[in-house]
Amino acid sequence: EEHEIEMVTCSAPVNIAVIKYWGKSCEKKNIPLNSSISLTLNQDHLKATTTVATSKGFESDKVWLNGVKQDVVNNARLQACLNEIRSWARKQAARRKADAKELLKISQKIHIASQNNFPTAAGLASSAAGYAALVFALGQLFSIEGDLTRIARRGSGSACRSMDGGFVEWIAGTDEDDSIAKQFVPEMHWPELRVFIIVVSKKKKDIGSTGGMKNSVETSSLLQYRVSDVVPHRLTAVKTAILEHDFSAFAEICMKESNQLHAVCQDTYPPLLYMNDTSKEIVKLVHKYNDFYGSTRLAYTFDAGPNAFLFTLDPFANEVATILNETFGFNSGDKFFRGLSVKANEPLP
Ligand code: PMV
Repeated sequence: EEHEIEMVTCSAPVNIAVIKYWGKSCEKKNIPLNSSISLTLNQDHLKATTTVATSKGFESDKVWLNGVKQDVVNNARLQACLNEIRSWARKQAARRKADAKELLKISQKIHIASQNNFPTAAGLASSAAGYAALVFALGQLFSIEGDLTRIARRGSGSACRSMDGGFVEWIAGTDEDDSIAKQFVPEMHWPELRVFIIVVSKKKKDIGSTGGMKNSVETSSLLQYRVSDVVPHRLTAVKTAILEHDFSAFAEICMKESNQLHAVCQDTYPPLLYMNDTSKEIVKLVHKYNDFYGSTRLAYTFDAGPNAFLFTLDPFANEVATILNETFGFNSGDKFFRGLSVKANEPLP
């Protein structure tokens, strides 16, 4: 017997956190200890492309990541997303008085195939892009209405911030329904802003963010201080800097946030060491460059991995590219370094 297959494909880009999310108040629901802000890159560079399909003929939910079949049953976060999607779909179908065909579709199994065009799980927000694309595609497949950032958040916290472009704030909230992401300014707000990405290592990280955060919450006293005394001020200050296109204020907060994230990681017991020697060389180079000009023209930030994200402004981008190229073989095709220069303001298609 032949069965009809319904299919939707979506892609979502990665986002780079400026105010970092590190630590959960509820691990099951992915509720963060603090609000965070990130910049979503444009679609052309680091992105996940995900196809979701459903059919009466499918016998179980199945997932392939970069062509490799994944375990679905024991993946709690994926299960949370699928359960939420199905429950929203059912509720909305009931409200619409949907016909039997539509209800049958919701009860069918789902196949998912996702592809990243960049190294997976190397601190390049692969799960953020992946879950954002997945939840968006599932939302389309079942014609779901409403704020899907809450569902993407269940897959990977930072994924909720990849559901929109520009600078996006993830408002911590207190529970399931109020922990959501909202666009702060659209992609065209800051046309001069540029991002460089230096892939220092393509290796998969040893400790994922969920395990790392759990250890930090349990053992780092710096994390508690950060959440109560540091982040609230920085959130306000970075929003003002973004609104006013104040690059040097933005850059300073960005670097201090990265440094504090990695200080918290080092303060975790046993310590989480995500940056390597090359990462540290990049930090030194950025400060040397800014010192040379006596003004802040370049900023770094690192997530839970050794790879660097650098922010600069259009007028400095060529010079920065040359320096990175000379120092790190940026864009040279070397197997350890892959550089990308991204215009942050290009609109999402
Ligand atoms: O979304 P997760 O669970 O992979 O956590 C991401 C954590 C950081 O990337 C280090 C910071 C952030 O805000 O994205």
